[in-house]
Amino acid sequence: MAKKSYYVTTPIYYASGMVHIGNSYSTVVADVFARYHRLKKDDTFFLTGMDEHGLKIEEAAAKKGMSPQEFVDDIALKTSELWKNLKITNDDFIRTSDARHVKTVQAVFDRMLKNGDIYLGSYEGWYCTPCESFWTDTQVGENHICPDCGREVHKAHEECYFLNLKKYQQQLLDYIEAHPDFIQPETRKNEVVSFVQSGLEDLCVSRTTIKWGVPVLANPKHVVYVWIDALTNYISALGYENGDDSLYKKYWENATEIIHVVGKDILRFHAVYWPIMCMALNVPINFKVYAHGWILMKEGKMSKSKGNLVYPMDVVNRYGLDALRYYLVKEMPLGNDGLFTWERFIERFNVDLANDLGNLVSRTISMINKYFGGKIRKADKNYFSFDEELETLAKKVIEDYKHDFEAFHFQDGLDAIWSLISRANKYIDETTPWVLAKDESKQEELMDVMYHLYEVLRLVSIMITPVMEDSAKTIQEELGLNKEEVEFTALEFGRDTENTVIEKPLVLFKRLNMQEELDKINGDNK
Ligand code: MSP
Repeated sequence: MAKKSYYVTTPIYYASGMVHIGNSYSTVVADVFARYHRLKKDDTFFLTGMDEHGLKIEEAAAKKGMSPQEFVDDIALKTSELWKNLKITNDDFIRTSDARHVKTVQAVFDRMLKNGDIYLGSYEGWYCTPCESFWTDTQVGENHICPDCGREVHKAHEECYFLNLKKYQQQLLDYIEAHPDFIQPETRKNEVVSFVQSGLEDLCVSRTTIKWGVPVLANPKHVVYVWIDALTNYISALGYENGDDSLYKKYWENATEIIHVVGKDILRFHAVYWPIMCMALNVPINFKVYAHGWILMKEGKMSKSKGNLVYPMDVVNRYGLDALRYYLVKEMPLGNDGLFTWERFIERFNVDLANDLGNLVSRTISMINKYFGGKIRKADKNYFSFDEELETLAKKVIEDYKHDFEAFHFQDGLDAIWSLISRANKYIDETTPWVLAKDESKQEELMDVMYHLYEVLRLVSIMITPVMEDSAKTIQEELGLNKEEVEFTALEFGRDTENTVIEKPLVLFKRLNMQEELDKINGDNK
């Protein structure tokens, strides 16, 4: 059987500034998906990159007295460094100013022009300069406000090329109906369906007023509209129409699963324009679109204009990478919005990481040292009814975890793992190892208890790997586990074990004093 191949992408980020924890969320969850599949030894390709063209970037560069290329080079470098610091495991980093990408965009545009899916016309409508989008009378309403960003729009007239969306309207609706998992979650799918049903207008896909973009080959006074340019990244990075297309064949045409992770604000582009482009190009629509909500601050959406931005490294430098990755994945149910406040962050850190996980690790290792000089092995049998309860739960959690991580429901998957951690903590209180330790005749019972805790931690360490690899590795080293014992295929309770744990447990997550931390953060932000 051919090996399964997975392709996961993030949106490509506007190179107008640095990504904050809101938009780095897309990258972290895509990374979790990629890491999960690599843990399973699935062939996986993970793409992220930068969206570098358009007026906003032209303007931002001019403000800094730089050329657009110099400006985006600087941001792209800083962003790829950031991803390295967040241990993002992307296989490629596509930039829309890359020559390979420009080549694909020009070929794609040219093909659609030749096929008659793109035609030259002229446009009169309401234009939003910051969003670089035209809108209809109904969309801007009486107050002439951009439906996307809420800013004022103005009347504009422009010669432009149009993509014939109307032609594909019914085909798209049929496609969505025949592929119920194309858009996830379900509620978002309904929004897209009603948008398409309300009637698609042909889309203006070129601009004559902007210089910083990909010139249309057939008519270079036009540059390609940023969204057509940007969406094409998903195949230009795989070599589509720009040279060796073996990656395109493997990760697109023959992919087991392709997932585009996007925020809810850009769903329409991915679930309407992109599949229509694919139809026009005869590129198979093999992908699914996973739309996530926003990370909100107390004041609403995180944004530069509100001045409420938190940058990933602000969190990492204070509390470590795994705490950030855990929080992002844990606090954001797919589809709904999640909240970021420092209070909530510190609370999750203390409760989930320091207390639940951290304590289970340190208590277990300390007891194995104290009672058995660090040696652990499988006991001759189960001595307690709690053993079966714990084992049954472990089995269920493993199943749930696999199911949830497969389906991109990482939050549910983490909940499942933490239910096992809590149960194991309770198991310590139920079996009271300190009492067994006092009784010479109960040594095998005591080993049985230690073994159960040890097994739970081994399983937990495997399951958290895609989210918090550093902590997973530390726990595995502390437990003295070998490579084979922490493989995905070893995700089963009850392995034979004869290991030695580390002498003194490390402090994985040091409990924080809420008030002290908040004072420090507020002090630094002044
Ligand atoms: N350049 C386009 C995407 C083109 S993809 C072919 C773009 N870039 S962006 O930098 O503005 O946004 C990138 C992603 O960040 C989007 O998915 C957007 O939804 C997401 N987020 C921006 N702010 C966010 C939050 N506060 N919370 C979660 N995600 C947010 O759009």
